Amino acid sequence: MNNEQMSDVFSTLSQAMLPAVTQEMRSVLRANQTQTDLFYGMLHYHMGWVDEKLQPAQVHAGKRIRPLLTLIACQAAGGDWQQALPAAAAIELLHNFSLIHDDIEDASHTRRGRLTLWKIWGMEQAINSGDAMFALAHLAMARLSQRGVEPLKVVNSLRRFDETCVQLTQGQFADMDFEKRAKVSVADYIRMITGKTAVLIALCAELGALIAGADDETTAHYAAFGRNLGLAFQVKDDILGIWGDEALTGKSAASDILTRKKTLPVLYGLDQSWEMRQLYAQTDHNEQFVPQVIAILDEVDARRFARQKAIAYSDSALEHLAAASPQGEAAAALQQLADRLLQRNY
Ligand code: IPE
Ligand code: IPE
Ligand code: MG
Ligand code: MG
Repeated sequence: MNNEQMSDVFSTLSQAMLPAVTQEMRSVLRANQTQTDLFYGMLHYHMGWVDEKLQPAQVHAGKRIRPLLTLIACQAAGGDWQQALPAAAAIELLHNFSLIHDDIEDASHTRRGRLTLWKIWGMEQAINSGDAMFALAHLAMARLSQRGVEPLKVVNSLRRFDETCVQLTQGQFADMDFEKRAKVSVADYIRMITGKTAVLIALCAELGALIAGADDETTAHYAAFGRNLGLAFQVKDDILGIWGDEALTGKSAASDILTRKKTLPVLYGLDQSWEMRQLYAQTDHNEQFVPQVIAILDEVDARRFARQKAIAYSDSALEHLAAASPQGEAAAALQQLADRLLQRNY
């Protein structure tokens, strides 16, 4: 199959699956009722379904790669993707819970090109909205039983979901802890992004395979495919967080540097440049901090270093995918997804 046909497969599957995931999430978040109160309205705003005044809106609110990965993996493993819809919705809602809290933790003012929940309704309400989204994500997963998924698979999915939530918060813990640490190794960094990002993307592919009824070895390959894809994804997020176009990413291009996040390009810069270590050791306010850091990162070609790492993780993802022996057009769609995530500019 050539690239163009593969591209069609991913788009064709997405076009069928996305409205179904949206419907599932809207139902869990009670978005189809005529009257919406502010409690649900704030969640709908975050999902891109309403504006600040809670009026219906249609804005780009996320790439929805996690639910798509869940459903396509289910089909590639020989299952019926419709059965996996509750898991796809649950994972996307959990991802959105993590973003609501992450934007407070990272002091981010914009997300997906709009003001973050906490910037509009305050930190206290945004924390509570995140808590609600977290609980609703669990209720979304429990709906697997309504789709005829066997009780044992439902219980296992919920257990894996909770284990993943714990790992995600461990990753977030490390991400924040590293802001204050001068020395962070690449191994520390990989552990941190495995937690904050890769385990949830791994869970998408794993649950897709589990619901399809794949054997343990195949399911493990799907999980490893997702984990490596997730690592590549986060390294790419780090690159976009510095050199990305804010108009496309919808996020600030200065915020990671200002909060002294230990992203992969920054770790490389700190390793390669004495001047960069000096800059990071300064505690006084310096207006030129961000442009100076970027100039050093450009000089040592930190972008190229990070890009090569992302490619290596993406390649290992594809090796695990091949070992999982995916079937049919969904197999091509998964390869295409890996390629798109590497090439993305938002
Ligand atoms: C952003 O994830 C947070 C990370 C884990 C890097 P996405 O880039 O998938 O965010 P949306 O949902 O598409 O906005
Ligand atoms: C996102 O981390 C990971 C989670 C929210 C769990 P980042 O802080 O790196 O993601 P962005 O860049 O804000 O989307
Ligand atoms: Mg963060
Ligand atoms: Mg953030």
